[in-house]
Amino acid sequence: MATPSLRADASTLVEVTDLHVEFPTREGVVHAVRGVSFAIREGETLGIVGESGSGKSVSSQAMLRILPRPGRISRGSIRWHQRLPDGAVRATEITELGDRSSQMNALRRREMSLIMQEPMSALSPVHTIGNQIVERLRLGGSMTRAEARLKAIDLMRSVGIPNPEKRIDAYTFELSGGMRQRAMIAMAIGNAPRLLIADEPTTAVDVTIQAQVIRLLQSLQDSLRMSILIITHDLGVVATLAHRIAVMYRGEIVELGPVRDILKDPRHPYTQGLLRSVASLETSDEDSVATIPGVVPHPFEVVPGCPFHPRCSAFMPGVCDRVAPERTRLAPDREVRCHIYQSRA
Ligand SMILES: Nc1ncnc2c1ncn2[C@@H]1O[C@H](COP(=O)(O)OP(=O)(O)OP(=O)(O)O)[C@@H](O)[C@H]1O
Ligand SMILES: [Mg+2]
Repeated sequence: MATPSLRADASTLVEVTDLHVEFPTREGVVHAVRGVSFAIREGETLGIVGESGSGKSVSSQAMLRILPRPGRISRGSIRWHQRLPDGAVRATEITELGDRSSQMNALRRREMSLIMQEPMSALSPVHTIGNQIVERLRLGGSMTRAEARLKAIDLMRSVGIPNPEKRIDAYTFELSGGMRQRAMIAMAIGNAPRLLIADEPTTAVDVTIQAQVIRLLQSLQDSLRMSILIITHDLGVVATLAHRIAVMYRGEIVELGPVRDILKDPRHPYTQGLLRSVASLETSDEDSVATIPGVVPHPFEVVPGCPFHPRCSAFMPGVCDRVAPERTRLAPDREVRCHIYQSRA
């Protein structure tokens, strides 16, 4: 299925600007997200890719205000644009709301939903699947239990769970991994959220189910016109599903732009390395797999200049190890954070 094209007049749903997230711990402060900026438009899929620990999940947890303790947003803005029934748009500054405020709860109930990597941790083992979907649906408004049950059966059918009339009374452990993943998606889309955040939705399932989950997300987006933020290690998933990619390294977005442009012509040396590793995995034997040398620095470690410089093939001594690069705009919809382009700009 081809990536759906984005409406030219699609407006911004959420705008994240200079977001910083810190975890003050006894051993020191982990600066997990360091000045991340991106926007998601209505009906758009934005993919976030990057190595483990780069701050992908923490960025999305900040948007939902569900950061694990002791995480806190230390700087920046997250502006949510809510379309009111009369067509007007109301902007809400998410960073100013309390984690458990009624406004934040309402946003989480009606506007944004999360699908997590491991359905077992998100679903309760002691309630039936049906009851969990019904409870979630009833949080959204005025549905009676009977109405919510019918809607839950519909939702289960729409995510491809066969025989939903019967499966609705099953417990989590009675379903296969793929069916659990679908049940979690059904729960997440029940109240027709405007943004679905999918954090590694295909990591815990096998390849066949992966493809089914991706097709399902695509068709749901087409029919519900929701926006999707997909977080993944898998560039293949992003290439199929996303309109734009944000590449994260050590808490920063190092490259951002349309999927096709970045896959065809990656500019940041880190993105180039990521793509080379995928290409060599696909084409050659294990011995010649290209990898990016070195490892992601320890979260407490302070790296002066560009955080990627110790691993970078284009390292310029005296510049990259001294000064942090700024975001450089390469085209209207494309930016990179690297001295190579900054000095040319
Ligand atoms: N509860 C916590 N306490 C301290 N540090 C944390 C906590 N949760 C996350 N971090 C730190 O925040 C950084 C970013 O973590 P995050 O979970 O966002 O990574 P990720 O990009 O989602 O990685 P993965 O691909 O492994 O899921 C990591 O360095 C991690 O150590
Ligand atoms: Mg993660």
